[in-house]
Amino acid sequence: PPLKLDLNLKDHDDDQPDDGKKRVTVFFGTQTGTAEGFAKSLAEEAKARYDKATFKVVDLDDYAADDQDYQAKFKKETLSLFFLATYGDGEPTDNAARFYKWFTEEKESNDWLKDLKFAVFGLGNKQYEHFNEVAKVVDRILAERGAKRLVPVGLGDDDQCIEDDFTAWKELLWPELDQLLHDEDDAPSASTPYTAAIPEYRVVFIDPSEASSHQEKSWSLANGHSTIDLQHPARANVAVRKELHTPASDRSCIHLEFDISGTGVSYETGDHVGVYSENSLETVEEAARLLGLSLDTLFSIHSDNEDGTPLKGSSLAPPFPSPCTLKTALARYADLLSSPKKAALLALAAYASEPNEAERLTYLASPAGKDEYSQWVVASQRSLLEVMSEFPSTKPPLGVFFGAIAPRLQPRYYSISSSPRMAPTRIHVTCALVYGPTPTGRIHKGVCSTWMKNTLPLEYSEECSWAPIYVRQSNFKLPSDPSIPIIMIGPGTGLAPFRGFLQERLALKQSGAELGPSILFFGCRNRKMDFIYEEELNNFVNDGALSELIIAFSREGPAKEYVQHKMADKASDIWSIISKGGYIYVCGDAKGMARDVHRELHKIVQEQGSLDSSKTESYVKSLQMEGRYLRDVW
Ligand code: 2AM
Repeated sequence: PPLKLDLNLKDHDDDQPDDGKKRVTVFFGTQTGTAEGFAKSLAEEAKARYDKATFKVVDLDDYAADDQDYQAKFKKETLSLFFLATYGDGEPTDNAARFYKWFTEEKESNDWLKDLKFAVFGLGNKQYEHFNEVAKVVDRILAERGAKRLVPVGLGDDDQCIEDDFTAWKELLWPELDQLLHDEDDAPSASTPYTAAIPEYRVVFIDPSEASSHQEKSWSLANGHSTIDLQHPARANVAVRKELHTPASDRSCIHLEFDISGTGVSYETGDHVGVYSENSLETVEEAARLLGLSLDTLFSIHSDNEDGTPLKGSSLAPPFPSPCTLKTALARYADLLSSPKKAALLALAAYASEPNEAERLTYLASPAGKDEYSQWVVASQRSLLEVMSEFPSTKPPLGVFFGAIAPRLQPRYYSISSSPRMAPTRIHVTCALVYGPTPTGRIHKGVCSTWMKNTLPLEYSEECSWAPIYVRQSNFKLPSDPSIPIIMIGPGTGLAPFRGFLQERLALKQSGAELGPSILFFGCRNRKMDFIYEEELNNFVNDGALSELIIAFSREGPAKEYVQHKMADKASDIWSIISKGGYIYVCGDAKGMARDVHRELHKIVQEQGSLDSSKTESYVKSLQMEGRYLRDVW
């Protein structure tokens, strides 16, 4: 089995002595680490409050990983807390997927969880239709199976301040846990607020004179693990980079091809690729300047003591590969351009030499400073570096900077725009450049899209750019029977997976398969600027992979034309395809486009099917349940 990087694995074993302590399991389903961070910080805080209880933090993917017997294992739980993130179209995180599938499908008797007490905190974003779906569903099923809910499900909203939601939920939870876990002779510690220590890695600096004997740890092509996943990406070279917009456009959209030959990476049409990119040199230099250190500083970083015992009170994520230079660490592992969390402000405050800076940072992180934090940090999109530059007296040590201030740089996900039938050794990505001013006047350059735009591809140099990548499977798949008709709706970079679909259909056709009809609705601003892959799309039509290509140009005529307007024009064709068992796919922006397309689909079903609004509702729901209405939205 792959070696998990998670150093808390030892927490996961079951063979604990019966020491009379009450056991609490804190489960997390995390993608970017926030849910995991909350789970660990809650466990730390709870350990300090309750002497007579043990808290075990468990990655849902590791739970029952050996025997797959969730049921038997779950039955032994008596008090469980869940931190569950929802992403995309109401889906669980990668590490919670297996658990979620089992839990939502298991068919035990109704009260098999009656001995369990639980609380669920969800991490989601209100901008999305399926806000906190995973947390809500787990919370509901737990209660349906007889488990006792301690507090209402927490609905963390990342669009606002999710840390505040977490704090508010904890305030409800403590009194409940007090009742269950407090020993009579415990000090009344629950009433004294416990402030978590600042998480800090142990950093060992390496003298420049000895640097030659310390090779910088780096990435090799084969990653040495039997699986390639979020924790164990593989290194892939950039083979091709192309600009897809014409020079007339003031924006940029990149076509990138990763070479996956020899990497062990494989994919299917419709999957996503997670890309670990790098901060730009400009960003990295600014960060080093603010830290007062040279980019060449060589160090190793550890979450354990020299004797191998874990650092005290450690809620730290496993450290990144080291020894490395500060330049590498800042480029690859630190999120420097997102807004700092409140805990980061507190850690900065602890290392500010100017008392008024420390005071202001502490205030911003306090309940009293809530509104100002929302305004000055979140709404203004102040980046961590911007905040640090406004508090120049803060010079946190590296162990604190990487442990408590700069979160780990997360991979960015892209819908793969190729099919392995056409491109077996390549993963194609279609990526719009994120570039624009923030409210403070800073020009925000998206980390990964900027990196992609500046990559040096193998076609120009052997010293080409590369990135650690992994493939995340999706259920955004063509019908297994290619004769089933399909409708695809994907404006802008929402076209990406459909380019893969069409490559796949073309390959199927070339190998003799009978293809059903297909319609693609694509939208862009202007034919002369951002009609990406125009020639290829026309070829798909000419070669019979695509029956009909319908394009909405939003900025050519006097009025905006969007894909949903074109759908309205084609209402009867769409209805005919759907009512004959066809599939409908939507890809792209969730908040605007996918929502409007969803409304249009309702309208079409209602009018064409002559249904009332509740029948329409259930018709569209059933399309979704049957997997015939699939969305890949962000
Ligand atoms: P616009 O930028 O002119 O508003 C790809 O981004 C295309 O999607 C663009 O033509 C863009 O138009 C369009 N678009 C923007 N908002 C949309 C929405 N809510 N529904 C459908 N298309 C939209």
